[in-house]
Amino acid sequence: MNKLLKLLVLMSIILLAACGTDSKDKLTVATDAAFAPFEYMDKGEMVGFDVDLLAAVMEEAGFDYELKNTGWEPMLASVQGGDADLAIAAITINDDRKESYDFSSPYFESTHMVVFPEGENITSAEDIKGLKIGVQTGTTGADAAEKIVGKNDESISKYESNSLAFMSLGSGDVDVVVTDNVVASEYVKNNPEAEVDMINDQEAFESEFYGLMFPKDSEVRAEIDAALQTVIEDGTYAEIYEEWFGTEPNLDALKS
Ligand code: ARG
Repeated sequence: MNKLLKLLVLMSIILLAACGTDSKDKLTVATDAAFAPFEYMDKGEMVGFDVDLLAAVMEEAGFDYELKNTGWEPMLASVQGGDADLAIAAITINDDRKESYDFSSPYFESTHMVVFPEGENITSAEDIKGLKIGVQTGTTGADAAEKIVGKNDESISKYESNSLAFMSLGSGDVDVVVTDNVVASEYVKNNPEAEVDMINDQEAFESEFYGLMFPKDSEVRAEIDAALQTVIEDGTYAEIYEEWFGTEPNLDALKS
């Protein structure tokens, strides 16, 4: 009897510790891991700058989490519907999206580039007029292309993922791809056999910023955003940045 009582007490202690007030729920984070170097699959594993940044931020915030590779549009839907607690996927913060989502503060500055087969005479964004343009559906790259050739213009082909857009460039189904600058550079650098080139156009393509995306009125946003700030201020962000991009980040650019 004595033994049984001891065992019961011990079990209650373990149970109480497990459900203690300071233990947090496991969060679900959605992404679209086809956007190197931010998030992509490498030997069956999700890797990238965002993946490492997320790990650092969640550790700082004290959250356990599961990162799910849902794809782009399901990711947006799952955040809006509250199935995911947040998303990280090189997601641009803009006014349109702020109507349906909340964001962290900015963590990366970006702009767009035009990627095209080597030797094509493309020197400005305007040159994509009259060409077949590939973009990822529902992205700011799609918006940027539409700003130049017109909304829903039939010259624009929208793909479910950015990799599919690049594949269509390879097969000649499209003449150019408009996508985020760092992703364009990474693709050109890592795929010499694709024989592609790229240009930026500072007048046509504005600068934008990536943020973590949350459902409206998220209960964890403030805490995770504070953790992001800490990770940026304590040098962890710079470490991850240098690992992936080989240079030091310009932290002032994030403060605007
Ligand atoms: N920055 C762009 C946007 O927010 C493209 C992001 C695409 N990200 C991805 N993981 N496929 O619209």
